[in-house]
Amino acid sequence: MSLPGVLLLDAAGPEAGLLATAAAARGHQVHAATTAAAYADYRPELKGLLAGRVVTDFARPGRALDEIAAFARRRGVGAVLTVNEYLTELAARLCAELGVPGNDPVRAGAARDKAAMAGAFTAAGVRAPHTVLVRSDAELRAALADPRVGFPCVVKPRSGAGSAGVTVVTDAVGASAAADVARESVGMYGSGGDSGLLVQAYAAGTEYSVESFTQGGATTHLAVTRKQVTGGAKRVETGHSLPVSLPPAIQAAVYREVEAAIRAAGIRHGASHTEVIVSGDGRCMVIEIGARLGAGQIGLLIQHALGIDVWAALLDVALGRPAALAPSALGYAAVRFVTSPHAGRLTSLYGFPRTGPGVPFVRWRAAIGGLVREPGANGHRLGSFVVTGLDADEVEERADALLRRVRIHVEPAPENTGQVRPASTSAIAP
Ligand SMILES: Nc1ncnc2c1ncn2[C@@H]1O[C@H](COP(=O)(O)OP(=O)(O)O)[C@@H](O)[C@H]1O
Ligand SMILES: [Mg+2]
Repeated sequence: MSLPGVLLLDAAGPEAGLLATAAAARGHQVHAATTAAAYADYRPELKGLLAGRVVTDFARPGRALDEIAAFARRRGVGAVLTVNEYLTELAARLCAELGVPGNDPVRAGAARDKAAMAGAFTAAGVRAPHTVLVRSDAELRAALADPRVGFPCVVKPRSGAGSAGVTVVTDAVGASAAADVARESVGMYGSGGDSGLLVQAYAAGTEYSVESFTQGGATTHLAVTRKQVTGGAKRVETGHSLPVSLPPAIQAAVYREVEAAIRAAGIRHGASHTEVIVSGDGRCMVIEIGARLGAGQIGLLIQHALGIDVWAALLDVALGRPAALAPSALGYAAVRFVTSPHAGRLTSLYGFPRTGPGVPFVRWRAAIGGLVREPGANGHRLGSFVVTGLDADEVEERADALLRRVRIHVEPAPENTGQVRPASTSAIAP
């Protein structure tokens, strides 16, 4: 009997590549739903591995759904997956259409549209910052005057990702400028734009994410990840480390909120990445949830620190088979991202780590001679490397030491107007 086909919605990016490779290695025919432009950029190895593809337009999800479903039926597809946050809702709808394991198509928008997310969190009693959807200057003024918001507060696009267009503001003038930035922040496939933006109460504290897998409605948390985030107006993630052990009472409170968020977003079969902020007095606020594996090498960190084959697990969940989620290692892993101190032209790079013992992964992606930006979104990060080991402190120290050794030279470049690539949580993961 032949194995069911596996369909990836957008196979661009390193994580989709690993997933495709894992599926092919198990003998599945792997297919991709893609846009013509994205397919042109696929690596030759990925193109060689794909048994088929359906070219569609993700900006027209209704039509994309019909085209992809027809293709999937012809090809005997039994599992639909995506690591692209922008496609998680379409993935849920496709799974429902094809009758394969997936998330609740009715609720799936709540893991994508942050206005819907805020509504779903409120309805489910998830602790989250007070959030106001704003569609005009008058509504912006009203939101800023709302005592449940106050200053500082956060202005963000309704359906962005990767911190693009998100600004922490301290006054009304800053909020007005940030609203323009949020409105201009166009995500992949034309999401965002004039559908409004969000003004949200600021949650002070330490930022973590929780990496979870849900199967048949039962959730397993693989790890809590500590995040390094730039301070100030623009919050860019500059590092992740896992697994972090929180004090038991705090961990229980965090898991309780995350599980409520997972249910609120209709996550029934699949990975999720829930971002939380824990205040100094141990209270947990959910910032957002994504119905996908954490980006920014979090899958690799889980694999190296805990010995869990996340790609195999994603496949199993999507195929409706029990996934092996028990750790087989008790290590620790951290990723660091290199960012530019200011905008300009990158003229040199020295001291970037190479792979070797305890450094299983490095990736530099900025061209020497090319324009770079000061970090305003995760997509502005220039490179990353992963450090693993048995001892958390040693791993953190080594990661910091390696980061200190990286030397980049950036010359002022007046022509650097700062083109921002659309943020994709798969594509932004350097
Ligand atoms: N309400 C908030 N309080 C404090 N910080 C926030 C809040 N919302 C967002 N942030 C900061 O901004 C970052 C990006 O915001 P987020 O809502 O996660 O957007 P994205 O979907 O682009 O990742 C977060 O990782 C966090 O550092
Ligand atoms: Mg986020």
